[in-house]
Parts: sequence; C-alpha cells; structure tokens
Amino acid sequence: MKKKGIISFSIICFLISTMYVKAQKSIYLDVNQPIEKRIENALSLMTLDEKVAMCHAQSKFSSKGVPRLGIPEVWTDDGPHGIREEVYWDKWSGAGWTNDSCTAFPALTCLAASFNTKLALNYGNAIGEEARYRNKNVLLGPGVNIYRTPLNGRNFEYMGEDPYLSSRIVVPYVLGVQQNGVAACVKHFALNNQEEKRMSINVKVSDRALREIYLPAFKAAVEEGKAWSIMGSYNQLRGEHCCHNDLLLNKILKNEWKFDGVVISDWGGVYNTNQSVNNGLDLEMGTSTNGLTTTGDLPYSEYYFANPFLKGLKSGKYNEQILNDKVSRILRLIFRTTMSANRPFGKFVSPEHSETARRIAEDGIVLLKNENEFFPIMVGKYKKIAIIGENATRSLVIGGGSSSLKAAYEVSPLQGLIKKYGKEHIVYSQGYKSGKSEYGQELTSEFNTDSLMNAAVETAKNADLVLFVGGLNKNHFQDAEGGDRKTFELSFGQNKLITALLKVNKNMAIILCSGNAVSMPWVNEVPAIIQSWYLGSEAGNAIANVLSGDVNPSGKLPFSFPKKLNENAAHSFGQLSYPGDGINVEYKEDILVGYRWFDTKKIAPLFAFGHGLSYTTFKYSKISTDKSNYDKDESVKLTFILKNTGKVTGAEAAQIYISDEKSTVLRPIKELKAFSKVLLESSDSKLIEVNLPIKEWAFFNDKTQKWDVEPGKFTILVGSSSDDIRQEISIQVN
Ligand code: BGC
Repeated sequence: MKKKGIISFSIICFLISTMYVKAQKSIYLDVNQPIEKRIENALSLMTLDEKVAMCHAQSKFSSKGVPRLGIPEVWTDDGPHGIREEVYWDKWSGAGWTNDSCTAFPALTCLAASFNTKLALNYGNAIGEEARYRNKNVLLGPGVNIYRTPLNGRNFEYMGEDPYLSSRIVVPYVLGVQQNGVAACVKHFALNNQEEKRMSINVKVSDRALREIYLPAFKAAVEEGKAWSIMGSYNQLRGEHCCHNDLLLNKILKNEWKFDGVVISDWGGVYNTNQSVNNGLDLEMGTSTNGLTTTGDLPYSEYYFANPFLKGLKSGKYNEQILNDKVSRILRLIFRTTMSANRPFGKFVSPEHSETARRIAEDGIVLLKNENEFFPIMVGKYKKIAIIGENATRSLVIGGGSSSLKAAYEVSPLQGLIKKYGKEHIVYSQGYKSGKSEYGQELTSEFNTDSLMNAAVETAKNADLVLFVGGLNKNHFQDAEGGDRKTFELSFGQNKLITALLKVNKNMAIILCSGNAVSMPWVNEVPAIIQSWYLGSEAGNAIANVLSGDVNPSGKLPFSFPKKLNENAAHSFGQLSYPGDGINVEYKEDILVGYRWFDTKKIAPLFAFGHGLSYTTFKYSKISTDKSNYDKDESVKLTFILKNTGKVTGAEAAQIYISDEKSTVLRPIKELKAFSKVLLESSDSKLIEVNLPIKEWAFFNDKTQKWDVEPGKFTILVGSSSDDIRQEISIQVN
C-alpha cells in the first residue's frame, strides 16, 4: 500500500515536472508573454549551429528560422515604392509568379515633396499591407540618404536634401509599415550619397555634418519611428565599411540611440568576419559566393557569418554572448512580426491602395513655373493637344535597380491625358527614344533621332497646345542604382528637341518625370514647367488631374535645383568632393548642403528648396510668439495667419525656418524647423500654431561632441519656400 503510494507520488511529480518543462519550453510560443521573455526562452533552447544559421541569408531575400522549434524564416523584400516580385532562390531574376504584381506607389522624392505627414503614414500603411499580404516580414525601405548631388543615381528613392523634412516624413512611413507586423528596414546607413564607386568609396565627413545633415532622419526613424531594422550601406566611413562600422553601428546606433532591432547588411556589403562580429552587424545578406547557382547549404555556409563565425565561436575566438545579442535581435524582429498575435492580414492591390498612390502623387507634383496662368488647362479649352516625349508612354516603374517593380498596372501620362481631355483632342509623337532599361548597362535605342524629332515638330506645329513629357528615366546612368548620372543635362537629345518644338509652337509646357534636378537651358522660353517625379501606378491620372485643375498642385521641392552643376555645393570643390579620387570622397561643403549652401553663399538657385506654386495664392500675416525671451529648454509657441487669397481651394505647405543671428561657428542662413500643410478654401484663413522646441535649434559641437544652443538672438522665418519668406520675428534665447 505504502509502496503504491510512493509510486503514484513519483508519477505525479514526474507529470508535474514534464508539464513544467513543457510550459517552460513553450514560453517563446506564447504570444501573451513579454517579448524579452520569449527571446530568452527561445535562445535557451537553441543550439550553436541553429543560432549561427539565423545570422546569414539562406536565399537571395530570406534567412533561416529554427525549423525544429517552429520559428519561421525571415523574408525580406524591396521596397521602398512597392513590393518587388518574387525572384528565384539564388538569382536576381523574376521567378515568373503570377500573383505578385503590386501597386506601384510614387517614389519617395514625391512623398517628401508632398510635405504631408498624414500621407506618409498612409503610404507606410498601404505598402505595409502589401508586404504583409505577400508574407514578407521585412520591407527593405524607406531610404533616407541625403540629396548631396543631382548626379546621384538613387536620389529618387530618398527624401531630399533636408534632414528635418526627411525626419518628419520617415517617421510616419515607418510607423505605417510596422503597424502591419512588417519591419521597416531604413536604408542605407549611412552616407551612401553617390552610386559612383559605392561599394568601396571612403567618405570623409566632419562629425558636425554627420550629425546635423546625414544622420537625423535615421535617428528619427529609430527613436521616434521605432524602426525594427536598419540596413548598412555599401560605402566606407573613416576606413571601415558601413555594414561593419563600429562608430555607426555600435557607438551611435546601438549605444546612443538604443536601437534594439536588426542591423542587416546591404546585399554584398560585408567584407570581414571579425569586424562584422564585433562592430554591430546582425544579419548578413547578399554576399557573393561561388556556389550561388547551386542549391543546398553549401554557398550560404561560406558567408562571413556562417562557417567562419561558427569556427570562431567554437575555438573561443568569439564569445557566445555576442552571438546571443545578434540572435536576440533577430528573434525580437520575428516576435514583432510573424510570431506576433497582433499581426493583421494585409491587402494587395486594393482600390484603397490605388487611391493612396494617386493622392500622394497629386500632393507631391510640383508646379515650378506658371506664367500667365498657363495651367490649369480646362477640359474643352483646346481642340488639338500635342503630347510629345517618351515619358508620356514609357514605363517608369520598371528599371532603376532594386526598386524596380512588376506593377499590376501603370496609367501612363498619355493614357491619363486621353482619359481627361478625350481621345479626339490628343495627338502623340514620341520625339526621342532611349534604350531598354537594363541593370548596370546603358543600352542605346535603335531608333533614328532625327526622324523622331522631325515627326514631333510636325505634330507640334499643327497643335493648339504642346505638352512635352520628358525628363530622366530608370536606365543606367539616369535615375538608377549602381551608377551616377554622367551629366546634368537631359539626355537622348531632349534639349535639342525642346528648342525645335519651341520654334514652331510657343504654347508649350514641360512636364519633367525625374527624381533629380536637371539643367533647363530653355527655362525662360517656356511658360510653364511641372516637376512630376516617378508617380507609380496612378501617374497618368494624377498628372491629368493636376493639369486640368481638378486637383490644385501643392507639392514643394524637397531639394534645390541649381542653375549650373558647379553651383551645387558638392560640385564646388572639385573632384575630391565629388565623385572623389576613386578611394576617398571628401564632403568639403560640410554642413552647407542644398539650400544651406545657396543661401549662405548667396547663389540664386534655379528653383529653391521648398518652392512650389499653386493655382491660388496665399497670404501670411500676424506672426507672433508667446514670449520674446526663452530659456534653452523651452519651446516657442509661434502663431501666424494663413489666408487663401485666390479663387480656388488649395493647400499650402507653410515652412518655418530659424536663423541664428550670431554664432561662434558658421551656421547656415536658415534651417527648416517645422512645416504645416493646410488646406484652405478660397477666402478662408486659419490661425496656424507651431511649437518650436529651442533645443532643436542646436548645432553639433565637434569639439565637445555635444549639441549646443548659444544664447542670443534668433529669427524665425515663415514662408512659402526657402527663398520666399513672408514673415519674420526675432526672439532672445538666454
Ligand atoms: C540595394 C538595396 C536593396 C538590396 C536588395 C542592394 O543592391 O542597395 O537597397 O534593398 O540590393 O535588393
């Protein structure tokens, strides 16, 4: 009897203990447990091999989970303007799936030009939904490298020249993506400001320019947007590749900004196991190995973070703690995304996404010039409208490198204009032709330029109105990854063509599709110019709506257009400043990037940062502050009145800059510190209230490595663009 009791007691103990072990084991699966507990538990159950396997790619775009424990793989995908089509396991080429044609959203330059933070949230949410639907848990974007030179082939993927504007746009984008249980991967950290020699160029930049110009958008994405991943860039900073750069990744990102997400390498941006292990990289992607065409484990096991890392761990060269930190970050990302209880299901190519894409496009289109109210062109005003130019019909979502998209549809400008004005009123002539878009290769067109031009001139001659739709495209050496533009001029004979067209018909406007500034030798000859970016699926509809006045343009330039290339700051200091000597590039203009340069050096740009016209007019008045004396830790409460003084409803992105009147260091004449986009009906006015924390007016002191606000007089400038200041007021900082 006693024996029986002992036996049943031990059985109960055994059952309890197995239940306990079971419960212990499944903490990581329990979505109600805190993430940190789940990480700790998962880590305790993993072998060394399993941990190392998580730190490097297993295919072009994915990395391993832990199959034995049911922890899913990580699936990344480009970004940043739409969800890239499926590619083969080990190849870049499209895999030919028939369910992966996405909504193409406008390029990020357009989003930045909208100066609209609400739309940035909608953008992030919509693309996040698309990524979620396609079962991706990392979206490789957004990109926030600062616009330093108009030749940078990838500017179109970024948010312009101003650190404040990019910061305000990137935060809602990231929040929008991540509310879908998809990690944003903010790229390319950092200083990837040119494509020329991007894999090796060593950037020499002051701490001050780094902190004031090149890092703020990343910092905002991490601290405010709480980005779950970040992508290292290809280039080097101070002799170390940025994918394993101690200063950027350990000191700044992880220690100062307390980033708890995953540092992902750019594809093929890793060169060294030791530096990668110690300098902050967590996940290695895209490294070339000889075996990339074979299937199986072999090629990926040759990654710096595969066998060489494992060997170092086994020999005691690397501490397991350092591996655990990397794996914890990857697990954290998985628990935040695929293994989160709150993950919605996503949506793909929905009417709402088209609507979002169109609204962003309409909000970002910039009316650069509009003499004698050339635009809007009401439906029915002209009998015969000639549309000239390749970009009226060419796909502008294909090409450009990793952001190239297989879109579900793309309404071309010509289609949009035909829909708006009626087929019977439109004639089209291509005028010029570029080659096919091919990654890393410039292909020329087989068409005869002269005959294309002659045909276009004939078409223009007989038309009541000419709309030239040209600009750049997504070809190599245009707006594309992997190379910079070779020239600031428009290519494919467009300037010659425009001049010829103007000779026969002066009633002509230019619509430029590009992600970069271009030279405009004809600027004084044409009455109207529109900057229309790469607008994605809804391009043609958005352009037609703006041209016809159904939508009043409200976009503002997120970067300055210089008159001449050598008037841009980076180009003012010779070759070492851009593109470098092949080894180094020195940012000699320092903090004077974009309008900071034009203002301070008193050079008039062709079109200034923040410039953008409307079909209505706005009046600024009654600027005032709550006080006239402030302590450094206070905020200025600024108010002013904005009134729509024209005949139609319109939105204005009012811009608020500050100017430090006297400083011990060089400060730009003005720096953007706030903006407010306001929609007003004709004759309506609104009191705009803006909060300006004075600590955000600081400069970065290279010597003390701290942010300083020096006491003295500051002027607050309010205006419609960086060169159109309408109101100002000075205050004293103690
Ligand atoms: C680009 C990244 C991109 C990655 C994956 C790289 O070449 O620089 O922006 O996300 O490829 O396609």
